[in-house]
Amino acid sequence: MLRNMGIVVVNRPIGPDAFWMDVEVPDMSAVALPGQFAMVKCSDGLDPLTSRPLSIADAVDGMVSFAYAVVGKGTGLLAEMQPGDRVPILGPLGRPFDYKHAAKRHVMIAGGIGSAPFPFLARALRDEAPGTETVMLYGGRTRDYLFALELFEELATKVETATDDGSHGHHGLVTDLLMPYLGDAANRLYACGPTPMFKSIDEKLEGHDNPCEISVEPIMACGFGACYGCVVPKRDGDDYQFVKSCEQGPTFEIRDLRVDLMGSH
Ligand code: FES
Repeated sequence: MLRNMGIVVVNRPIGPDAFWMDVEVPDMSAVALPGQFAMVKCSDGLDPLTSRPLSIADAVDGMVSFAYAVVGKGTGLLAEMQPGDRVPILGPLGRPFDYKHAAKRHVMIAGGIGSAPFPFLARALRDEAPGTETVMLYGGRTRDYLFALELFEELATKVETATDDGSHGHHGLVTDLLMPYLGDAANRLYACGPTPMFKSIDEKLEGHDNPCEISVEPIMACGFGACYGCVVPKRDGDDYQFVKSCEQGPTFEIRDLRVDLMGSH
């Protein structure tokens, strides 16, 4: 974990209330792994006091990138940052995706801005597992909410989309696209998005052996185990206990969590 002072290089809209930010922060770029996150300070002052947890969307050539939705004051201030602004960043943090396994296919499943960790993962799979098929199943409210779709079309070998209004791809839920990929246990799955999407994946996985890691996005105030704001219910035999997702996650094998007990957001 490193404390860094980054320099904003790019901060551009990628859809309704969503932005892509490239930050020059070489020390962090050199060690970050797909699935990790960073705590990004949104202002010099005390309001908001806490940093925002953002998935690392990419890390290449001294840059770290974030794809984020504007959902409150902190991310609203982030959206106002200009190239050349300084931004304090703590990271990389958390457990990365466990993707260095032989697999027939790596299948990423994303809902809206839940796609944020996947450019980094898709790039790593392309570079480190050449010849392996990487599939992006991408859902959003409308075409406009399929953020950075062109980037996924470049990085993944196959992209399938679903929208609530049918404006791009399948007219329905992204999890409707999942079943053809569950028949072969050599397919590894990765998912990030709203909790109802996790619940749907959890149900569809019943009777299938595919490994499936999810990246959870709870509220995080500190990012390093001090505040207990980020707990999720993890299975413990027939019971469960709450664990800090900033320390044990944010990536978990879906079967290790009680996603049925997680709040919807
Ligand atoms: Fe503070 Fe996890 S974010 S304990």
